[in-house]
Amino acid sequence: NSDILILGVETSCDETSAAVLRNGRELLSHVISSQISTHQKFGGVVPEIASREHLLHFQGVIRQTLEEAGVRFSDLSGIAVTYGPGLVGSLLVGVAGAKAMAYAAGVSLIGINHLEGHIYANFLNTPDLEFPLLALLVSGGHTHLVYFEGHGHYQVLGHTRDDAAGEALDKIARALGLGYPGGPQIQKAALSGSAQAFDFPRAMLEHGSLDFSFSGMKSAVLNTLNSARMKGEELSVPDIAASFQQAVVDVLVRKAMLALERTHAKTLVLAGGVAANALLRESLEEKLNTRKVRFVYPSPVFCTDNGAMIATAGYYHYIAGDFSPWNLNAVPGLNL
Ligand code: KG4
Ligand code: ZN
Repeated sequence: NSDILILGVETSCDETSAAVLRNGRELLSHVISSQISTHQKFGGVVPEIASREHLLHFQGVIRQTLEEAGVRFSDLSGIAVTYGPGLVGSLLVGVAGAKAMAYAAGVSLIGINHLEGHIYANFLNTPDLEFPLLALLVSGGHTHLVYFEGHGHYQVLGHTRDDAAGEALDKIARALGLGYPGGPQIQKAALSGSAQAFDFPRAMLEHGSLDFSFSGMKSAVLNTLNSARMKGEELSVPDIAASFQQAVVDVLVRKAMLALERTHAKTLVLAGGVAANALLRESLEEKLNTRKVRFVYPSPVFCTDNGAMIATAGYYHYIAGDFSPWNLNAVPGLNL
């Protein structure tokens, strides 16, 4: 049997997830055990609790993933696992587990950068993507513009200098009392608000910069909320949500367009949890259908953290012969 079967494992934050992928495109199984409800009462992810939850669920998730795929350990070609960036305790559960499984089964170990994994979610839905391509990665922890010349060959064109886009959305959602995770709540609240109600700043930085800065934009919203509170005024939560969401999307779209003009890339892929945002997708779609640029994004379940994207990145490492040593370790601050 010459099928390439990759088990992908993801435990970098608050999802314990695994998937079996056949030949880079056929998902045989995909299991996501989310801890969101556990962390919700704290308003965000509590690292210590996250590690313990991964320990509790890891074996069950792996067993179910293999069972649903009808695959045994010995059938696998390789085990791909996120080794960073992320919470160190959470990453360690996945890395230690994957090493033990790969060693015992005598299959290859493939350490995957979580950020690369997010971008590779696009190859799962759209395996015929052509290089060079531009990736806009917008997650809870990162905001990056990355130029890909080929598999494994990329260059970071810009990144956030402070808060990530998702982080800013999460913090504003929290200030508005909308709960965690904030991005989907902001999107929901914005539906009944006006994006023109508040003219929040759009931080563009120096002329031509492809970097991002969301911290000042976030502070502008918090200042608006605080001064209204001092005056005893009641502000419309949907209006704030809609206006802030619009400001964040405007910046992301403008920087992506600038990067496309500069690189002449003919494909833009969206990635990361914030890629699930409908306004961001629609705005990019609208901008791009007048230009000759192909626009690709993963389905929502593959935008937020998942094992399938790690298996997909793992497949491309596998066929390139790019494996990890047995002393692979978690790297919480890993970057692209
Ligand atoms: O990629 P991800 O699951 O985790 C990280 O690697 O950070 O991204 C999570 C982020 C959170 O900030 C969450 O609020 C945001 O993605 N998010 C969204 C939406 N769904 C998730 N933001 C805006 N709109 C959404 N629909
Ligand atoms: Zn992520």
